[in-house]
Amino acid sequence: MKTLDELYQELERRNAIAEQAGGPDRIAKQHESGKKTARERIVELLDPGTFNEFDKFVTHRTNDFGMDKNRIPGDGVVTGYGKIDGRLVYVYAYDFTVFGGTLSRANADKIIKLQQLATRMGAPIIGLNDSGGARIQEGVQSLAGYAEIFYNNVRSSGVIPQVTCIMGPCAGGAVYSPALTDFIIMVKDSSYMFVTGPDVIKAVTHEDVTKDELGGAVTHNAKSGVAHFIAENDEQALMLVRELMSFLPVNNMEEPPVFPTTDDPLREDESLQTLIPADPNKPYDIKELILTVVDDKNFLEVQPLFAKNIVVGFARMAGHTVGIVANQPAHLAGVLDIDASVKGARFIRFCDSFNIPIVTFVDVPGFLPGVNQESNGIIRHGAKLLYAYSEATVPKIAVITRKAYGGAYCVMSSKQVGADVNYAYPMAEIAVMGPEGAVNILYRNKIDSEETRQELIDEYRETFANPYRAAELGYIDEVIYPKQTRAKLIQALEMTRSKSQQNPPRKHGNIVL
Ligand code: HXC
Repeated sequence: MKTLDELYQELERRNAIAEQAGGPDRIAKQHESGKKTARERIVELLDPGTFNEFDKFVTHRTNDFGMDKNRIPGDGVVTGYGKIDGRLVYVYAYDFTVFGGTLSRANADKIIKLQQLATRMGAPIIGLNDSGGARIQEGVQSLAGYAEIFYNNVRSSGVIPQVTCIMGPCAGGAVYSPALTDFIIMVKDSSYMFVTGPDVIKAVTHEDVTKDELGGAVTHNAKSGVAHFIAENDEQALMLVRELMSFLPVNNMEEPPVFPTTDDPLREDESLQTLIPADPNKPYDIKELILTVVDDKNFLEVQPLFAKNIVVGFARMAGHTVGIVANQPAHLAGVLDIDASVKGARFIRFCDSFNIPIVTFVDVPGFLPGVNQESNGIIRHGAKLLYAYSEATVPKIAVITRKAYGGAYCVMSSKQVGADVNYAYPMAEIAVMGPEGAVNILYRNKIDSEETRQELIDEYRETFANPYRAAELGYIDEVIYPKQTRAKLIQALEMTRSKSQQNPPRKHGNIVL
């Protein structure tokens, strides 16, 4: 019979073996490539001393390809729970030092256990990915594991926040679980995501592409829109997760945490009186307005590099989280195109899932005209934004800062798609189209001189290109001074805090995909 000391030593020995994972050489290689190990990442992510690991002694169960002689306790993923700012989160980190962090059936079971716990307990789940994808030696068992992880991602969608950091390669099956989560953070230079890598592409389509061009952090943040944030290194990615979490509730039945602030809720800002140029064709930076009106100039922009003509992100107003959606006149005049519509729609649906009120700043000349946009489906994609605003039952408050023309008026949180409070600045222009375009159509054959044209444009502007027609009809609740924006928004947010609205019962709506 073993003594108590021997039993404790046995546990210590087993723990030590599990913790050294793929061994010192592979750990050194991981460090040399600028990456932390799975356990180091978890420790960095969580509040100190809060990590509790599960399934540390689970091993893979394959005997093929000589794998029976190569079992490492814990296998290729570290899983467990801990806290971020004192709130429960579940976390799993693929361990690249163990068979390249590939997904065995045993690894999948560890992740699935965590997904089910997270959904049952109503707490966010965070995945730290660094994986060669399906473990080839396990064949269909690995694929089945992935499929079950995807299934759980979907079942948890809109119930608990799901966040993924991509901190190394992510190939094949390893990209679809992240794609089903709410936010993806990619580390610059050390991470990439693709369904098939450069070699397969070369063989099939004869295209030459590097893995960075194909699926690097910049590509997915700026071009494809797959990722939401870019981080310089592992540390920054993990800090970003913590920051993101601070804006979110732990599940869809809870409210986001409230952070008291000394920033006066009724603060007026004179600089806003001149931010929007009198000339409607002059651009300005909508982010200046956002930073000025939110608490403590703190705005976490989501997808800052993608579809810059719409700005989305999280901020707080009087301590409460809000989701901000804003046209950006400084980029493509703030026009709505396919990418902007999809970016906005996804963000709005996230906010609506997690009880985050939506504040919209509108300055939009319309949808982007063009053959390219039409043939790529601006009708289908623009409809997503319309759908998302109409479907959202959280408080919706909008400020028309300048242009709200055509379909874009309807889409961007108009009263008629269910906004609760609609403000406009005195320089707002709300009409079917801008004065120049309207005069060209209305008086096509009647304009005999530039002077007449200008007169007609001025007349149109006077009659339609202002907020007062809409205000007379009650479509705008109040025309406000720009300097009052923060105070007005905060009061409207307080007024709508008790909002309780439900869509008609149904299995689910059929959003235009
Ligand atoms: C088993 C794998 C593996 C895999 C890597 N390894 N990928 N083992 N199955 N899929 C092993 C390597 O043999 C190596 O073991 C160790 O992991 C580290 O890999 P390296 O190649 O040495 O590292 P590196 O040079 O950094 O390259 C990493 C990599 C590359 C880019 C991920 O390994 C790679 O391209 N792997 C294949 C990726 C892939 O095609 N996966 C399958 C996708 S299909 P040793 O013992 O030598 O250290 C898929 C289907 C699911 O996932 C679809 C669901 C929708």
